[in-house]
Amino acid sequence: MNDRQADIGVLGLGTMGANLALNIAEKGFTVAVHNRTTAKALALRDDNPGIGDNVLPTETLEDFVAALKSPRLVLFMVTAGKPVDAEMARIAPLLSPGDVMIDAGNADFNDTIRRSAAVEETGLHFVGMGVSGGELGARHGPSIMVGGARKTYPLLEPILEKIAAKYEGEPCVAWLGPDGAGHFVKTIHNGIEYADMQMIAEIYGIMRDGIGLKPAEMATIFADWNTRGLASYLIEITAVTLAESDPETHQPMVDVIVDEAGQKGTGRWAAIEAQKLGVGATTIEAAVSARGVSSRRAERKTAAELYRDVGRTGAEFGGEAEHIAELEQALETAKIIAYAQGYATMAAASDEYGWSLPLAEIARIWRAGCIIRSDFLDDIARAYDAGDNVVNLLQASDFVARVVAGEAALRGVVAKAALAGIPVPALSAAIAYFDDYRRARGTTNLTQAQRDLFGAHTFRRLDMEGVFHHKWPAV
Ligand code: 6PG
Repeated sequence: MNDRQADIGVLGLGTMGANLALNIAEKGFTVAVHNRTTAKALALRDDNPGIGDNVLPTETLEDFVAALKSPRLVLFMVTAGKPVDAEMARIAPLLSPGDVMIDAGNADFNDTIRRSAAVEETGLHFVGMGVSGGELGARHGPSIMVGGARKTYPLLEPILEKIAAKYEGEPCVAWLGPDGAGHFVKTIHNGIEYADMQMIAEIYGIMRDGIGLKPAEMATIFADWNTRGLASYLIEITAVTLAESDPETHQPMVDVIVDEAGQKGTGRWAAIEAQKLGVGATTIEAAVSARGVSSRRAERKTAAELYRDVGRTGAEFGGEAEHIAELEQALETAKIIAYAQGYATMAAASDEYGWSLPLAEIARIWRAGCIIRSDFLDDIARAYDAGDNVVNLLQASDFVARVVAGEAALRGVVAKAALAGIPVPALSAAIAYFDDYRRARGTTNLTQAQRDLFGAHTFRRLDMEGVFHHKWPAV
């Protein structure tokens, strides 16, 4: 074991851990690495000439800890859940007061709050850090959402600012709040990612089943959309995936892929937390549900036969330029509504947990590196910076104008899709949320009446202060 000391240690050399370690080493920091199988640690040094000189592979946990400068920074990149607790229990006895454990996985923020409280009592520090951008992001520049003890951030900042993605030279990393704040923001990032991906898939479904476009034609359209308002990593990869051919059959790649979506769970967590906070994140919920429905493929094939003769009322989607433009505007408008829901969830959590989440800063660090990266997030940052105390992005003047201009396109596309029997659960949720959110007199007065009748749950009146129970007829 040489006597060189590492600036930080990475524990767990799966795809994300290995690539983060290489990113750190490439930026000139010395990084100690440790993995259950030592071969992976050795390979990280030996298979990366040059950068590998900054990688210190270690065989034992004791060697790994001994290789770290004080205060020690230990970055865990292990499977979320119990493996994190297990690794923490293994290494904590080897650490000293002031050392920092950093969980960089996709943790449930509730676990992070629990871990922070437990660790801080011992004199050690705990940081829950969301890292977004997948394998390439980890290697060349992720978006990093840091939560935990504020006083530890200066220890991490020099390294994180170097390895993070840059947007116009600004590193896409920030300390967002105590304990679970970083992991919560990452969870909402993933919820928005689900909604964004689902709405794109719904537009793809209209193009395929409503207009009859081929993947190559769709690829050209999405590539064009990627030159203006919808420009984003997700639109870019949509064009790439639609243009790709299968080397085996020479068919469009998307046409040979089974329509069953996986989900590791982060989008679902976002929907659950929104529900707990009483925020209508209906596009995120629709996206999670759509993945669930997609997983029941055998059932869907049976149902398709049972209902093969219904659901078409002859509504046609035209393929002409103006119809394609309507799809583009519908998607742009639905995206604003989906992001408004994600941000409303973060605003509600910020109040609930006392985090004071910097919503403009979160938009800024999402402009590059993460999966939902786009210039659109710059617009969100400006909306929050404008200082008109934005309670919901749908009340920010710039977005009001954009939704006013685009809501008819979204409404028309959703209506036509319903008439054509083409499922658009997230796009429908978007326009329904918009109509619900902008309605001054809703219909839950009837709900209150029903609740009071069968449960004496009481209600308030428009015309006088107080809480009331009415003597309803016995039913
Ligand atoms: C990211 C991604 C990543 C996510 C995978 C799989 O921000 O880099 O969101 O964290 O875990 O994309 O997610 P699902 O299996 O839930 O789609």
